[in-house]
Amino acid sequence: MGARIIGTGSAVPLTCLTNADMEKRVATSHDWIVSRTGIYERRVMKQGEDMLDLMYAASTQALDAAGLSARTLQAIVVATVSGDYAFPSTACLLQARLGVDNIPAFDVCAACAGFVYGISVVHSYMKSGEYSRLLLVGADALSTMVNWQDRATCVLFGDGAGALVLDNQPGEQGLLSTVIESSGALWELLYVRAGQRRTVDQDGILPKGWGIQMKGPELFKVAVRNLSDVACKALERTGLAPADVHLMIPHQANLRIIQAVADRLGLGMDKVHCNVQRFGNTSAASIPIALDEAVRQGKIHDNDVIVLNACGGGLTWGASVVRW
Ligand code: ACO
Repeated sequence: MGARIIGTGSAVPLTCLTNADMEKRVATSHDWIVSRTGIYERRVMKQGEDMLDLMYAASTQALDAAGLSARTLQAIVVATVSGDYAFPSTACLLQARLGVDNIPAFDVCAACAGFVYGISVVHSYMKSGEYSRLLLVGADALSTMVNWQDRATCVLFGDGAGALVLDNQPGEQGLLSTVIESSGALWELLYVRAGQRRTVDQDGILPKGWGIQMKGPELFKVAVRNLSDVACKALERTGLAPADVHLMIPHQANLRIIQAVADRLGLGMDKVHCNVQRFGNTSAASIPIALDEAVRQGKIHDNDVIVLNACGGGLTWGASVVRW
């Protein structure tokens, strides 16, 4: 049996902030942002908007693509670090909105690597046979956790949600291997204190130290190394090599990180799907949004080998290999 991805969906907020908009907020420039990150614009939530709406839209798209009703799901897993409530979990709120009851629903918290951690969880369930049809969502709104006066971080992040429906089906296609790792010793490279939330349209000067704190250059180096090493480990477990990869869909943090990882793996950029230019870093949502886009653009074909890899706060990182 194979844990196959049979439906994908994604959703982002309507508000689009271009680099020209960022120039009006902080001392930055379009050229600086593009040359350091590759980002041109990002989507952000405003006051009164709810990440649950994005999650619901992405999930119903994925269910429609799979041709299934939510009532046939056996479990719901959501990767996020930016839910509206400390509890219940974001997954329970989504479960209620989808109108499914009496199945497990819970969140996985691993920041930008959350979606690959989520894949690891659902893959284990599916291999064991405990659950064979699941909804996996990656959703984050890190724009609500940045200090909009801090130019070093506010230009990087955007909001969104992506969803996959996975089903155990006969044959060899589906998730082949997933490797996840973390290093708590490196937590101070990227963090935000609990309870710090504020949308871009809420006024007020925030104290230094408020919102996402990041040691960008150090993070850059660790991310490049870990993203490429863990992709190799996940491929090795399946007896495959980077040369066998048809498409890598990495966490969309920064175009330079993605290019450096592709270089280390010996992959041309024609074998990498990127949309960081239009959405910025959407944390746990970035891989499922990019995957959904690649599927809808017809970039992925039957039996293609796909690598999904991510690195984020924790630090956490991981990779999954899929035979489509
Ligand atoms: N506009 C203009 N100047 C800026 C901006 C900005 N938005 N932000 C920082 N600068 C300035 C700095 O203040 C510094 O000025 P100084 O030399 O006068 O002190 C200068 O630009 C250089 O800053 P660096 O931090 O050295 O710039 P660098 O080339 O390293 O790029 C960046 C910064 C883009 C953050 C890079 O380090 C990076 O991408 N790191 C990875 C961060 C990341 O992706 N985080 C997301 C979460 S982790 C993950 O998802 C993998």
